[in-house]
Amino acid sequence: MAGGEGQQTRDRGFDLHGRLRERERRGLKRSLDTAESAAPRTRFDGDERLVFASNNYLGLATDDRVQAAAAEAAREVGAGAGASRLVTGDTTAHRALERELADTKDTDRALVFSSGYAANVGTLTALDPDVVFSDELNHASIIDGCRLADAETVVYDHCDPDSLAAAMREREDEGGSWLVVTDSVFSMDGDVAPLHDLCDVAERYGAWVMVDEAHATGLYEDGGGVAERDGLGDRVDVRLGTLSKALGSQGGYVAGSETLVRYLVNAARSFVFSTGLAPPAAGAARKALAISRTGDCRERLWANVARLRDELASLGYEVGGDTQILPVMVGDCEDAVALADGLREQGVVAPAIRPPTVPHGTSRIRVAPTAAHTREEIDDCIAAFETAGGRLDLL
Ligand SMILES: Cc1ncc(COP(=O)(O)O)c(C=O)c1O
Repeated sequence: MAGGEGQQTRDRGFDLHGRLRERERRGLKRSLDTAESAAPRTRFDGDERLVFASNNYLGLATDDRVQAAAAEAAREVGAGAGASRLVTGDTTAHRALERELADTKDTDRALVFSSGYAANVGTLTALDPDVVFSDELNHASIIDGCRLADAETVVYDHCDPDSLAAAMREREDEGGSWLVVTDSVFSMDGDVAPLHDLCDVAERYGAWVMVDEAHATGLYEDGGGVAERDGLGDRVDVRLGTLSKALGSQGGYVAGSETLVRYLVNAARSFVFSTGLAPPAAGAARKALAISRTGDCRERLWANVARLRDELASLGYEVGGDTQILPVMVGDCEDAVALADGLREQGVVAPAIRPPTVPHGTSRIRVAPTAAHTREEIDDCIAAFETAGGRLDLL
C-alpha cells in the first residue's frame, strides 16, 4: 500500500476548482458560447445575434464556393491527411495550396501547418535564434515560440523602430543569429507595424526579419498581406500567416526561400510530429485565396470598415487602428464589459478586451466588420452602439 499502513496518502493532485475560483476573482474566467454557424448573423444558444467579433474578415467561411471546395477535397483526398506530411500525409491538396500561397507571396515555396499557432511555434523553435527582438504586442503564439526556442528575447516598444535599433545597438558586439519578429496587423489595436523601417534596422545589423500576417493575409494586393502591399516581400525572410482568418479555413503557413521550407520540413517539430493539415481545410483555403485575389470581397470589406469607423466616430467614440480591426476605446475595464453586455442586449456580439490582454485604462470593444455584413447589419451595429453607449453615458 502506497505510503505504508495507516499513513494518509498525500494529495498530489491539482486543485482546479481553486484555480478557476482564482481566475474568477481576477475577472479572467472565460466560458464557451456556442454558435450555430460562422455566418455574421447566427444563433447562440437559441438567440439570434449579429457577430462583429469574428476574424472571418472576407466572409469566406460560409461562402458556397469555399464550402464546396472543402467538400470536394474531403471526397477526393480524405477528411483527414491520415499521417504527418513526412509519412504519408503529404497530399495533392497541400501541394496545390502551397503553390498558390507561394505564387501570391512571390516566394520560392510555402509550407502549411495545422494552425497559425503551430506555424509560429514550429518556425521559431526550428530557427533556434540566439536573440529574438519581439514587438511588445506580438501574438501569444510568437511569445510561446520564443519561450520554447529558449532564445534570449528582447522586447522592443510597440511599432517603434528606434526602440529596436537601441536594443540592437546595445548588443552590437555580440555575434550569433538574430531575428526580428512582428505581427504585421496587431489583433487588439488594429494598427500596422512599420515594416519598412523595421527592415532598415534589421538590415543594418544583419538580422533576419519574420512577419506574421495572420490578420492581413488575403486582405491586400492580389490577396497578399502588408508585405505585398508595401512591396517589401524580398526584405522579409520569413513570411508567416494563417488560413483561419480572412481565408475562412484553418491552418497556418510559412512562405519563403526553397532552403527555408526544406529546413522547416526537417526541423519544425509542430510540422514533423503532427498530422498534415486536413485536406478539406487545404481545399477551402486554396479556393478562398483565389477568391480573395480576384473577387470583390476585399472592396466590400473595406467599404464596410470605412462606414462603420466613420459612424462610430461621429457618435463620439474614439476608434483606433488603421485596418479592419476597430478598437473602440472605452478606458475603464468595467465600462467596457458593461458596453459589451449592452451591445449583446441589442443583439450585437463584440467582445470587451481588457487587462491583462491590454494595458490598464485601455479597455475597449474590438469590433470586426466583415465583407459579409450587409448595409442594414452595419446600421444595426451602429444603432446598438448608440443605444448601449447612451445608456451608460459613454457618449
Ligand atoms: C498574429 C497571430 N498569429 C497567429 C495566430 C494563430 O493563428 P491560428 O488561429 O491559425 O492558430 C493568431 C490568432 O489569433 C494571431 O492573431
